[in-house]
Formats: sequence, structure tokens, C-alpha cells
Amino acid sequence: TPVPTVFTPLTIRGLTLQNRFAVSPMCMYSASNGHLTDFHLVHLGQYALHGTPLTIIEATAVTPNGRISPEDSGLWQDSQIAPIKRVTDFIHSQGQKVGIQLAHAGRKASTLAPWHYRTLGKEVATEELGGWPDNLWAPSPIPWAEGFPTPKEMTLEQIRGLVRSWKDAARRAVEAGVDLIEIHGAHGYLLTEFLSPITNQRTDQYGGLPFENRVRLLVEIITAIRSVIPESMPLFLRISATEWMSHLGQPSLDLGESKKIASLVADLGVDLLDVSSGGNNPAQKIEVHPYYQVDLASEIREHLRKEGKKMLIGAVGMIANAEMAKDVVESDGTVEVDGEHGTKAKADLVLVARQYLREPEFVPKVASELGVKVRLPLQYSRAPFPKKKKV
Ligand code: FNR
Repeated sequence: TPVPTVFTPLTIRGLTLQNRFAVSPMCMYSASNGHLTDFHLVHLGQYALHGTPLTIIEATAVTPNGRISPEDSGLWQDSQIAPIKRVTDFIHSQGQKVGIQLAHAGRKASTLAPWHYRTLGKEVATEELGGWPDNLWAPSPIPWAEGFPTPKEMTLEQIRGLVRSWKDAARRAVEAGVDLIEIHGAHGYLLTEFLSPITNQRTDQYGGLPFENRVRLLVEIITAIRSVIPESMPLFLRISATEWMSHLGQPSLDLGESKKIASLVADLGVDLLDVSSGGNNPAQKIEVHPYYQVDLASEIREHLRKEGKKMLIGAVGMIANAEMAKDVVESDGTVEVDGEHGTKAKADLVLVARQYLREPEFVPKVASELGVKVRLPLQYSRAPFPKKKKV
């Protein structure tokens, strides 16, 4: 029987992943002044010990005010390189790959880690709690929700500085030994705020209704990052393919716009579009079902293929078992185009978040269910995974 596509290698520029799984970036609220800690080394390292070909380090802020919480990871200064290098060195020692997500939280910065806000009963990290509520950046001075601080409308000079910060952070990430960089353009953080006509009400070249204005910052950041990372290094971009606000009956960031974004960034050197959704507005209306985000990924992939563009697509959201993981990247199996197994796969890479918190051995478990073997450390060889019934 042929190996399911999800267990076939995937080559992106100079990088080859052993199979099609990735740990989706997840904030752990455990950094110390933006530096990764022992927690991160053990937490991220465990995935490499369990056959995960690619682990993406959590949203890592390019400026201090771009952190979601005071305990977020950052890459705004050189001292933050070494603790990341410790993680990349370990993951490489296990023959696996590691990426990093670079981010700026925009108007959603300066909040408390979930467990703090549950006990303290508030979300905003005030100054006494290590936050910076008076120094939030956004395209327009519109707060996330009632009771949240009003962000500052970024000046043109701040925007120019921000592009430099992304570029510097990317250069540091390369120094830290990462195999790829993902730009966080999703979930209502700064780049989504610029992309959405609801949160971007600027009247200059970076905003307003015209599409080319709202994407300008993203385009500048992609171009800046590509200019400092090796040609062989993949660049990923995560977007919210829709902000789920079409019920307002006014222009919003929706799937149609995201297809345009996809076409645009495919030509700028983005290698994989990681398709997520939502997070830009508390009034979002989502109809959740297991494929609610995979379907968005699939539609964008089909759009790109019709345009003859080869940018890869990552799917994320509620992928938590062998059957779905297999299905997401499986094609109809009839055609073999440029090393791709057919054209009708929904996505090319399976990103998994919460299931990895429950089950670090997700990949070998899925592998045993599908009758496939994955590489595990020799140290673990006396405890093979039992074979399960095939799905
Ligand atoms: C997340 N998510 C997330 N997304 C992102 O782009 N950057 C991040 O740093 C984080 N942080 C984060 C922390 C935690 C604890 C969770 C649970 C989630 C979202 C995550 O990557 C993923 O997109 C969603 O969780 C949906 O996938 P699953 O969990 O259904 O597989």
C-alpha cells in the first residue's frame, strides 16, 4: 500500500521536512523579558523527540510593545538570540526542523496570560502588572473592545521603524539557526488590523478602503525579510482568511480579499500561506465545524492553482486525529504534478496546536494508525508504538 501523502517528505526551497506535520505556533507566556527559558527548551524539544518534522516557535515580538503579554517571546535585541539558538540546536540534534513566528500584537498587546486574567478577573496588563497599555500601536485609534486601552494611530515614522524591526528580528532569527520564518498576519494582531477595512481607517497610503493601501505594510515587511534571509530559507505567512464580519454588511477582510492577498504574496517570495481565521473583532460570527478552517485553506489553494501559482498552503484548526490529518493533504491520487500528489489536496502542510499539548507523540501515534513508521530517537527504540487498525 502506498504511503499516505501526510507521511511523504515536503521540500520547500532548501528545506526538506520528513513528513507533512508541523507544531503550530503557541504562546506559552513563559519568557523572561522576551527571552526563551528552560520551559521552552523542554516544551519545544519534546516534539523533536517525538518525530515532529517541524516545530514553529511561538509568536515572537519584533518590538517590546508588540508582545501579547509581558511573558511573550521577543527578538528585538541580540541577547534574545542565544536562548532561541539553544532550542534550534537541540531540535537539529534530533534531525528535525524548527521555525519561528515573528509577530506584533498591535492593539491586542499588553494583556495578561490567560491564567492571570482568570484569577485577576481582567485581561489588560496594566503598568503595575508589567504592561504598557498607553503604548499600543494600531493603524487607527480603535480599541479592541470596551474596557481595553485605545491604541495610538501609528505615524509614518513609526511604520518605517516597524519595518526595520521586522527585518532586524528576521536577521536575528537566522543567526539563532531557525530553518524558516513565519510572519504572523492573523488573529487580529497588528498586520490583520492593517489588512481589515474595519480596523484600518487611515487616510494615507497605508490605509482606507483601497486594497493596495491596506496590504502595503505587509508587502514592505515581506520584502524586507526576504532581503535578509537566505534564498534557500522558506518564508511562511499566517493570515486570517476571513475576520468573520460579513454579517455587518460592510467591507471586511473576507475570503475574496484573502485570495487577492494570496496571489499577491505568492509573487513576493512567500512559500507557504498558513490559513487561519478570525480574531480581529469580538463581534465575529463563526460557524465552527471540524473543517471550518481547512475549507478556507482549500478554497485559497484552488484559487492559486487556477492562477498557475505554486505557493503552498498550510491548514490549521481542529485537526486532531489520523483520519483528518490524512485527508487534509491527500489528493484524488490521479495526477502527479511537479512532485505534488495530485491537484485536489486541501492543503500541503498540516499544522496542529492543541492536540500537541495533549499528545506530544501525535505524529508517531497517527503513523502507527496509518501503518507507517517515523524516525524516533534511538533512546526510545525499546518502546515501539503498537500498530492500530488502519483508517
Ligand atoms: C495558539 N495559537 C497561536 N497562533 C499563532 O499564530 N501564534 C501563536 O503564538 C499562538 N498561540 C497560541 C497559544 C495556545 C495555547 C493555543 C491553544 C493556540 C493558535 C494556534 O496556533 C492554532 O491556530 C489554533 O489553536 C487552532 O488549531 P488547533 O488548536 O485546533 O489545532
